[in-house]
Amino acid sequence: MVHVVIVGSGIAGLFAASMLADAGHEVTVATKQRTKDSSTNWAQGGIAAILDKTNTEAMEAHVQDTLRSGDGQCDEAVVRSIISEASERIQDLIALGVRFEKDSDGDFSLVKEGGHSSKRILHAKDATGREIERALSSYAERHERIHLRPNTLAIDLIQRHHRQPEHGVAGVWCLDQLTKEVVTLEADAVVLATGGVGQLWRQTTNPSVATGDGLAMAYRAGACVDNLAFIQFHPTALWSSRERPFLISEAVRGEGGVLMDNVGLTAWKEATKEAEIKGEAKPSPEPYSFTLKHSPEGSMATRDIVARAIDQQMKTTGTGHVYLVTSHLDKEGLARKFPTIAGRLAKERLELGVDPIPVVPAAHYMVGGIRVDAIGRAHVRQTGAVMPHLFAIGEVACTGMHGANRLASNSLLEAVVYAHRVAKHLIDQPPEAYEGQHPPWRADGLNALKEHAPIVHDRASLVSTMSQEVGIVRSNQRLRRAERRLALLNKEIELIWKGSLPSRAIVELRNLALIGHLVVTDALDQHQNRGLHFNVDLVKDGTPE
Ligand code: SIN
Repeated sequence: MVHVVIVGSGIAGLFAASMLADAGHEVTVATKQRTKDSSTNWAQGGIAAILDKTNTEAMEAHVQDTLRSGDGQCDEAVVRSIISEASERIQDLIALGVRFEKDSDGDFSLVKEGGHSSKRILHAKDATGREIERALSSYAERHERIHLRPNTLAIDLIQRHHRQPEHGVAGVWCLDQLTKEVVTLEADAVVLATGGVGQLWRQTTNPSVATGDGLAMAYRAGACVDNLAFIQFHPTALWSSRERPFLISEAVRGEGGVLMDNVGLTAWKEATKEAEIKGEAKPSPEPYSFTLKHSPEGSMATRDIVARAIDQQMKTTGTGHVYLVTSHLDKEGLARKFPTIAGRLAKERLELGVDPIPVVPAAHYMVGGIRVDAIGRAHVRQTGAVMPHLFAIGEVACTGMHGANRLASNSLLEAVVYAHRVAKHLIDQPPEAYEGQHPPWRADGLNALKEHAPIVHDRASLVSTMSQEVGIVRSNQRLRRAERRLALLNKEIELIWKGSLPSRAIVELRNLALIGHLVVTDALDQHQNRGLHFNVDLVKDGTPE
C-alpha cells in the first residue's frame, strides 16, 4: 500500500484518486477551497471522444483536427495515443456515475465546437464539467481510502534532498486555511492536478482558484516546464460591465451562432427586412461575419484564429465587444440545450435565440505546463532526467497533446487519460516508501503581515501588466516592458514572502508573479508565430506576415 497526495480536485485529481483507492492505496486529495471549486466544475462544452474504436476514419479525423489546431506543434504520437484511449476512459467515467446526454434513440448526443470537422463531443447539456465533478466527488466522498482535505492550500513540494531535484519529492507543505497552520503532507508520490492560471488576466473564464499553484511549486522544485507562451483565450465570454466574464460555450456556435460586429449586424438586419418585404427567404447571417476575413470557416475556425479576429475587430472599431447572433436559430431548442447559459443571459435581460449577445475573448486555458512523459512523470529542468515521485495531470501538465493551440473539448479527455496512466503506473510499480526525515517548514522568525495593502496593490499591478502587455496580440516592446515590470514585482513579492507567515493572498501572489515571468520569458523566446502566440514583430514560418 502506498500513500499518494494529489493536489487538486478536478477531473484529473479525482479520477486518479478513485483508481488508486480502488486498488487499495491511501490517497489524500488536498484542495484550496471546496472539493467542487475546480475549473472542471465550470467546463460547459464537453469531452471530445470517438466511442467506436473500429471507426478508423472518425478517429483519424479527430487526430487531424487536433494536429491542425495545434499548428504543427503537437506531439503526434501523444495525440494518437490519447484519442485511441478515449472510449475506454469514457466507459470508466460512466462507471463512476457520470451521465452524458443521450438523444431520443438512446444514443449519445454529440455536439460540435470550433475546429472540429464533425460532431464528436459528449456533453451534459451546457454543464458537462459540473456533471463530471458531481459524479467523481460523490464517489470520492464515499470512499474510505480517499481523504478529502478542503481548505488546504499547497505551498511547496518537499524535496527528498534539499536543492537536489533528481532525488524527487516526499510530500507537500500546505497551509491549513482553517487553523492557519502549515501542515506537512507526507507522500510516497505526489500528483499535481492543480489546473491553470487564468487569474493572471483581468478577463478570465476560470474560477478564482486558478492561480497556477502546482506549476509554480514544481518550477521552484526544479521541474521542467514548457510551452507557457501558449495561453488560450476563449473567443466568447459574455461581456458585462458589472460581473466577471461568463463563458458562452463554443457549442452555441456549433449550433449555428455567428459572430458579428455592429456594422455586420446592421447590414444583416437590413437585408432581412428587405427579404421580408420581397417575400424572399431570410438571408443567412454567416456572410455578414467579420471572422470570414480571417478564415473560410468563419465563426467556427479554431480558437486562436477567432479570438484574434475579435481582438482585431474590437481594436479597429473601437468597441468593447462584438456580438454572438443566434436569432436565426430555434429559440426553444437553444434554451433546452443551453439552460445554464440561457439562465445567466436572462440575468442580463438577454434572451438566447433573440438578442445579440455581447461577447469578448477571455483567458481560458493554459496550454503549456509541467512537461511530462507518456506516463505523467515530471522531469528535472537541468538534466532532463525523471524527477522521482512527482507526477502532473490535467491542465497543469504539458503532454504534447495540444501543441500551440488546444482543440476545444480535448482537455477533459487528456486529463482523464493521463490520470488513468499515472494511477496505473503507481499501482503497477508502487514507489518505495520514503524513510528519511521530512524537513520542518521554515517558520522561525516569521510574523503575520501587518499590512495587506502592498499585496493587493502588487496583484492588481501584475494582472494589469499581463492584461495589457501579454494578451492575444503581443509585440517585442510590450513583452519587454512586461518583463521589466515583472522582474521588479517578483523582487518585491519575494521580500514580503521571506519575512511573513504564509497566507492565501501571499502564496497565490508569489505563484502568479512567477508564472507571469515564465509566460513572458517563453513568449520572448518564440521565434515564430504559432497557434496562440502572435507577436506583431515576428513572422510565421519565415514568411513575412
Ligand atoms: C466551451 O464550452 O466552449 C469550452 C470547452 C473547452 O474549452 O474545451
